[in-house]
Amino acid sequence: MLYLHQLRCEYRINPLGIDIKNPRVSWIIKSRMAGTLQTAFRVLVASSPENLHNDKGDLWDSGTVESDQSIDIPYNGKELASREKCYWKVKIRDNHGNESPWSDVMQWSMGLLEKKDWQAEWIGLDQEEFGQFRNAKMYAPCYFRNAFHVDRKVASATLYASALGWYQFHINGRRVGNDYFTPGWTDFRIRIYYNTYDVTEYLNDGDNAIGGILSGGWYHWPDRGEKARLLGQLEVTFQDGSRQIIRTDGSWKASTGPEKYAHILFGESCDMRHNINGWDNPAFDDSTWEAPQTGLQLREALQTKYHVPAEPVLEAYPADPVRCVKEHHPVKMSTLTQREAYIFDMGTNYAGFVRIKIKNTLPGQIIHLRFGDWLNRDGTLYTENLRLARHMMDEYICQGGEEEIWEPRFSFRGHRYVEVSGWSNAKGPDLQSVVGIELTQSLSSLMKFSCGNETINKLFAALEQTRRANTIEAPTDCSQRDERQGWCGDALFFSNTANFLADMQPFYRKWLTGVMDGQNREGGFARLAPSNHGYYANDGDGLPAWADTGVLLPWQLYQYYGDTEILKKFYPAICRYIHFRISTLQDYLPDETGFFYGDWNSIDSFWGSKTSEWGADTFLVYSAYTAKTVRTAVDIAKVLRMEKDAVEFNNIFNELKAAFNRKYVNKNGMIRPTQGNCAMALSFGLLDKETEKKAAEQLMEEFRKNNWKIGTGTVSTPEVLFAFSRSGYIAEAYNILLNESFPSWGYMIKSGATAIWEHWGSRRPELPDSAPLFNPCDPNETHGPGFDCQISPWMNSGNHPAFGSVGDWIVRNIGGINQLEPGFKKIMIKPFIDKRLGHALTSYGSAYGTIVSEWMVEGNKAKMKVEIPANTSAQIYVSSNGKCTTSTSSEAKMKEFMASGQYHVFETGSGKFEFDWQLDSFEEKIKRTK
Ligand code: BGC
Repeated sequence: MLYLHQLRCEYRINPLGIDIKNPRVSWIIKSRMAGTLQTAFRVLVASSPENLHNDKGDLWDSGTVESDQSIDIPYNGKELASREKCYWKVKIRDNHGNESPWSDVMQWSMGLLEKKDWQAEWIGLDQEEFGQFRNAKMYAPCYFRNAFHVDRKVASATLYASALGWYQFHINGRRVGNDYFTPGWTDFRIRIYYNTYDVTEYLNDGDNAIGGILSGGWYHWPDRGEKARLLGQLEVTFQDGSRQIIRTDGSWKASTGPEKYAHILFGESCDMRHNINGWDNPAFDDSTWEAPQTGLQLREALQTKYHVPAEPVLEAYPADPVRCVKEHHPVKMSTLTQREAYIFDMGTNYAGFVRIKIKNTLPGQIIHLRFGDWLNRDGTLYTENLRLARHMMDEYICQGGEEEIWEPRFSFRGHRYVEVSGWSNAKGPDLQSVVGIELTQSLSSLMKFSCGNETINKLFAALEQTRRANTIEAPTDCSQRDERQGWCGDALFFSNTANFLADMQPFYRKWLTGVMDGQNREGGFARLAPSNHGYYANDGDGLPAWADTGVLLPWQLYQYYGDTEILKKFYPAICRYIHFRISTLQDYLPDETGFFYGDWNSIDSFWGSKTSEWGADTFLVYSAYTAKTVRTAVDIAKVLRMEKDAVEFNNIFNELKAAFNRKYVNKNGMIRPTQGNCAMALSFGLLDKETEKKAAEQLMEEFRKNNWKIGTGTVSTPEVLFAFSRSGYIAEAYNILLNESFPSWGYMIKSGATAIWEHWGSRRPELPDSAPLFNPCDPNETHGPGFDCQISPWMNSGNHPAFGSVGDWIVRNIGGINQLEPGFKKIMIKPFIDKRLGHALTSYGSAYGTIVSEWMVEGNKAKMKVEIPANTSAQIYVSSNGKCTTSTSSEAKMKEFMASGQYHVFETGSGKFEFDWQLDSFEEKIKRTK
């Protein structure tokens, strides 16, 4: 049985309104037979389902192509025009002589490719008076509507929608789609996205109405005094082939609605007494509504350091938008008598909002909702760590009646606890009164992991919780305080983990466009993207590790998804960046008088510290990351066959490595052998063979003397466990992972974290209230938080991805799942087995299909089961006395091709395999090879 599933176009299932003229298609092959490889494919793309049904690829018939390529096959047919609908299917042949049936019929549609396709005008309702909170201006969401008549039989209707701000469109009383925060976050002066919706089902015969609600969203935060705008073009195609276009323009009507304000940081206020019933229905009387303002009014660019076009371009949104991934029901409700309020524990820290249900309301009754990561010790809500956003509050003013249900449209935040006040009716709320709506992007989870250690299982769950909360239009640093920015460093430290957890390819591709948009004229990438000037002076050099994301993340997308196109697309920007970075150095070392973040948030670091006893030294980080980035540029140049550049970058890398060794290394190893310094030097391959050994011993000594506690910063932490395992110190890497004393990952989890914290000790439940407060951003600090401080609220988030880098090590070393070729076309399975874990199941949905590695220890015996997807091959490492006992398929082509050290290595094709071996001798051998 051979069949195809998970067919994707431009990395998404059935995308509408794309603007890539040669979109790429991909599929996953399922086969019952082992050792299956694709030998040929045929793709048909048709302009109608009927043509496709008759096997007529009138747009493209690839013919039978002898090839094993099953991901990223570019469309190569007739030129596609705006609005074109494309239906496609594929069949393949395999190396066993089987032919698959045709796949399911999939589709994509083209968006509006030409500027002239757009007839809609930008409309807005410029408000003289708007809500103001502290110094932040808060605009009331505005309502826009138009009525229209349909007098012929509708064949299809498509809405193209955009905004400077956030929009929700409605047609005939129904909200269009279920996306949030559309059209997505960009540097709005450069590009604005639009979304495409099939709204055929929304239309009535005869009278119809379309409406849009507009709020400021990211466009008004921070406020630049610019005017929010809405854009909509509804195209109705009739069965007779004619077309009617309903577009936003000056003939629409505009009004404010029940919402007093909606702001990312401060929440949303809705006075339901002013609800406009039926505003999105045809019969609504809008005679009192105003005419909207029209046209874009972008202010002059505040930044001049990089190129900003005269007018932003409108582009198709290239990923799946933010959606609800899960509803959370509170696990506990407690009463705060002194505030007449209730605290709901939602059980986990997620990003989103809550829906409330309140019975027997009085008109004008005000419900307030406040949110927090944690509770104070007295059970009240802790909000100080939200900084300016501590004033965040959703406010609902009741209409009055038997039951009211409300949820905000235009606000979200990370939180675990919700405080509800104003529930003044005799019967207070109960656990059913509040439902948490969790939002994220990249909904399709790729990873299953479980093992015999509950703390590690909880840690793994916290990684996914953290990923989801910080995958909302940008890989954000945190999800709650007055920041929530696409800090490039944080994105990079977590992206290896995130790429395993979910299909992040479209999300990261979209975000990288923002990274490239932020490249300045000298070639520097910014520290955060999309550029959010006003929030942060973002036009300068984002500095290594942070700005290096512009080179290192495209490389990751190539490694995880086999995405060569992203390398090609960003290569010129990557080259300009490398040249810029090197031009800032003297003798291949940085100027140490300037500021650099260094190994941010190590246990002993503070703003401006240059050295660290645990983390990596500030300018060592600078040099090490610069070298790593340049070496990655060598690899990228090689993949793209830019041989001359590869040689040039390699020469630069050698100079950087030599300078690093001159400054930081002597014959005994690292001159300052901190955990972070050793880990970075080892993991980035900056040492020669001799010093490598010594640095590995130094690293081990550092950890041994600290009882396997980890105190590195966000930059060097991703390297620590890899530095151990690559040096052969497997049990020691496990010692760190399994540690539950402060500081460690285990400590976070044991102290109640359901998402990763910003600091190793964001909460210190065992310390007394009187413990001193440490503020990493206070220039007067002279030492880090160490072991006896509480972290000040200033920099303390309860959902912060950076330390979540450990997920990458877990999958690659406990699961043993690694790629030998980009996209996991060739896989290496090499788990490190540790009795303390008992068993581990790791299952990863790669671009080719699911890879499973499962091992268990019974007495002194180990067993391993492996599953390799079709159209890939693998090397499976088994200890030298291990033997393959069974294979579920007799055709399994598995041959032992190498016995090296303690391993037998088996080359396999796809299939399911089982192994067993004596564990003691395995461990014995690991010891011997050290
Ligand atoms: C963020 C960090 C980020 C940093 C830059 C902070 O405010 O939350 O995680 O990397 O700024 O140092």
